[in-house]
Amino acid sequence: MIRIVFVCLGNICRSPLAEGVFEKQVQKLGLTTHFQLDSAGTASYHIGSLADKRSIQVARNHGINLTHRARAFVADDFSRFDYIVAMDKQNKADILRLQPKQGGAKVVLMRDFDPEQPGAEVPDPYYGELKDFEEVYQLLERSCTVFLSTLLQSAQS
Ligand code: 4NP
Repeated sequence: MIRIVFVCLGNICRSPLAEGVFEKQVQKLGLTTHFQLDSAGTASYHIGSLADKRSIQVARNHGINLTHRARAFVADDFSRFDYIVAMDKQNKADILRLQPKQGGAKVVLMRDFDPEQPGAEVPDPYYGELKDFEEVYQLLERSCTVFLSTLLQSAQS
């Protein structure tokens, strides 16, 4: 079992979409039972909310149903997950500030796995338009593809 939590600021735009994209790819490969997926936010403004309507819309356009409700990222997530996938560098810094001394989950940036712009950030589309959410979808799809294949390769060796 590989346990992954995707993390952004509000847990309503980017990270629920990343979770949905990754889940769809896992489902396509018939590997659902091998993964435990979640998402969370470093800020608590939106706890309990469904994803932003525009994330839900873009996901639906690609055959993904987003039902996640926002929750705050907590220090305990370091022991509950194997990978913490941050959407941008500020998220990663905020996550690392909660890291316990024993370490725990590996913290990575989503676009460490982007074949087009490795190491870039997932831009925050909150103040943008639907087309910005679609762009986020596209980069999440290609980043998740590489992330998943990297995980499957290391699970084999
Ligand atoms: P997210 O986007 O971090 O991708 O969920 C945001 C959502 C809400 C806010 C900022 C970014 N906000 O300021 O409320």
